[in-house]
Amino acid sequence: MGITVDEARGLFHLQSKGSSYVIGIERGLLLHLYWGKRLREYQGSAAHRFYYRCFSPNPTLEDRTFSPDTLPLEYSTAHGQDFRPPALSVVHGDGGGTCNFLYCGYSIIKGKQPLSGLPAVYVEDAGEAETLELVLNDEISALELVLSYTVFENYNAICRNARLINHGDAAISLHGMLSCQVDMREDAYDVISLWGGHINEQNIQRTPVPHGTFEVGSLRGASSHQFSPFMALCSPQANEWQGEVYAMSFVYSGNFVARTHHDQFGLIRMQVGISDFSWKLEPQQQFTTPETVMVYSCEGLSGMSHTYHRLYRRRLARGFWRDRERPVLLNNWEATYFDFDGEKLLGIAKKAAELGVELFVLDDGWFGKRNSDLSSLGDWVPNSEKLGCSLGELSQQINDCGLGFGLWIEPEMVNEDSDLFRLHPDWVLKSPRYPNSYTRSQLVLDLSRTEVCEYIIESVSAVLRSANISYVKWDMNRHISEAGSPSLPADRQGEVRHRYMLGLYHVLETLTSRFPEVLFESCSGGGGRFDAGMLYYMPQTWTSDNTDAICRLSIQYGTSLVMPPISMGAHVSSVPNHQMNRVSDLSTRGAVAMSGCLGYELDLSKLSDTEQRQVAQQIAEYKDLRRTVQFGDFYRLLNPYEGNEAAWNFVSSDGSEIYTVYVLMQAKPAPPLRLLKLAGLDSNGWYEDLQSGTVYGGDELMQAGLALPLLTSDAQALTFRFRRVSI
Ligand code: DGJ
Repeated sequence: MGITVDEARGLFHLQSKGSSYVIGIERGLLLHLYWGKRLREYQGSAAHRFYYRCFSPNPTLEDRTFSPDTLPLEYSTAHGQDFRPPALSVVHGDGGGTCNFLYCGYSIIKGKQPLSGLPAVYVEDAGEAETLELVLNDEISALELVLSYTVFENYNAICRNARLINHGDAAISLHGMLSCQVDMREDAYDVISLWGGHINEQNIQRTPVPHGTFEVGSLRGASSHQFSPFMALCSPQANEWQGEVYAMSFVYSGNFVARTHHDQFGLIRMQVGISDFSWKLEPQQQFTTPETVMVYSCEGLSGMSHTYHRLYRRRLARGFWRDRERPVLLNNWEATYFDFDGEKLLGIAKKAAELGVELFVLDDGWFGKRNSDLSSLGDWVPNSEKLGCSLGELSQQINDCGLGFGLWIEPEMVNEDSDLFRLHPDWVLKSPRYPNSYTRSQLVLDLSRTEVCEYIIESVSAVLRSANISYVKWDMNRHISEAGSPSLPADRQGEVRHRYMLGLYHVLETLTSRFPEVLFESCSGGGGRFDAGMLYYMPQTWTSDNTDAICRLSIQYGTSLVMPPISMGAHVSSVPNHQMNRVSDLSTRGAVAMSGCLGYELDLSKLSDTEQRQVAQQIAEYKDLRRTVQFGDFYRLLNPYEGNEAAWNFVSSDGSEIYTVYVLMQAKPAPPLRLLKLAGLDSNGWYEDLQSGTVYGGDELMQAGLALPLLTSDAQALTFRFRRVSI
């Protein structure tokens, strides 16, 4: 790992474990020269060549071959000599929008600095990474731009962000400032993105990069179910195992854009950053963008995912729970919805404890007068009449059953029918002059205001102190429309959406530091905010409100492109499934949920005795293999988007244990014999199948595969466990 600078030739060579990234300086502009497999050194064989191109502006009369419009730029600005989509767009005090940033220096820092107020990848030891800061100046407007790049010893990843400092004497208005841009110098790529909706998250989309602009993003005030803050380019031949992949994952939970722009000369620009915002930057102030994590893989999508999984598990997620096995939980939502009392909850908890569950989570409906989704958000006062006791007493009774106690909460929201709204009607986000709209009868609190953030911090703290609570499910069930704040002047209304995120990150930082041993799970109607920003504060996310095992195959498969299995909440629920009305075997539901952080979301006492024994076995087995699932490497084997099956295997971090899951979605007549080839094993190692006792070579399991028995009904799962043995 390291950053090499050739000052004479103006070259910066960033080397991570297996990748190189090269930036050159050309007449003051920073050019992108290379990103790919690690080079020992860079001499300049790929240096950019200059040609005269009609209609591309030249900074001087003397040289018609030099135009920013034709160059692979590290960062571009609007209303200047580059007509492609800009990374930075400002309006100066005089109304002009042009900038002219020229390189003026660099510094190299050991390690990686935190981003104040924003989530970011971190290091524990300065020796793990090195950071290059490139400084550019726009002398005319007295603006300074700092581009930051961190490379890692152990990961093929580069973290990038940008900082703008106003050294002038007038305020400027920022209309867009993205975190990173790469102008790829070849044009034959596919672009991969993730799209979806509520109960249908993280579908994989892959298409050749079209000419012009292709973009995904969110204008919803949350990273959203609809598109994920992620984009990757890959060679057309790239697949799960081979080929080059260039990915960007945005560490942010609000509005974003991820785009490609394929230009007339075959360059493909890829950019990621905040969207739909503006920011007034006063003299001597600076604006820092969130971070993007760029990953290069020459081992196809599996290589990309392994880098993200390891990095996000070890150096994005934090705190007490980062390296600890996650508890098997029971959540009462689909078991009772709002219809419960203390006795009913206790009955569910007792049975759960008997079968091996470790944590009971009380979902929505425990506070205020909330017996439906029409009221009480904001009033975080336990409803002791409904519970039949105080929250502290309930948690004690649950603890007495041998279970931890967890609680659902949705602190960013308020119902009009709540004491909070009656007291502070001005605490909600609101466009000047226009009425608010509703989703699920709720409004969004204005987290751009300090007093609102303080209310949330103190009211949630009071709840957490009132009972023995070891887990919190932090929900967010609407998107942000009418995003204005009465507390800000007219020329700062465009800042509200980003200020909301900064407020939320402050709240989460405070609460997670105040209650360091509480396990926080993020949720937004399932995976509506399943992003790297949230993972920094909360190491788990409820992957989807869709608990149907067959739908979960695709949802968890798509989510795994970037997110590690340990971050995915996955529950067994009752059948017919509440979202899809499908009936699938308990073993299939178990196998899919055991591929993430296992939980149950049903009243287990309503199962037959045989089913209860099966649940107890599932839980016992999961406890035995959860280190492998939660801390091992995940290999996707069969893609549910491409066929009628899904399969994956987990390999424990020391390579000694393998857990394999195969699911047939729909039974077909005369099914072919299926050989399932495993991945991630040592070809020279020996592996014992724990069911049959047969010992196979790793080469045989990966190359010849396992012959699967014929499955003749829908939604059937097979699971295998292997242990590495020496013979
Ligand atoms: C949406 C979540 O995704 C569900 O799991 C549940 O917690 C409900 N909210 C409760 O209102």
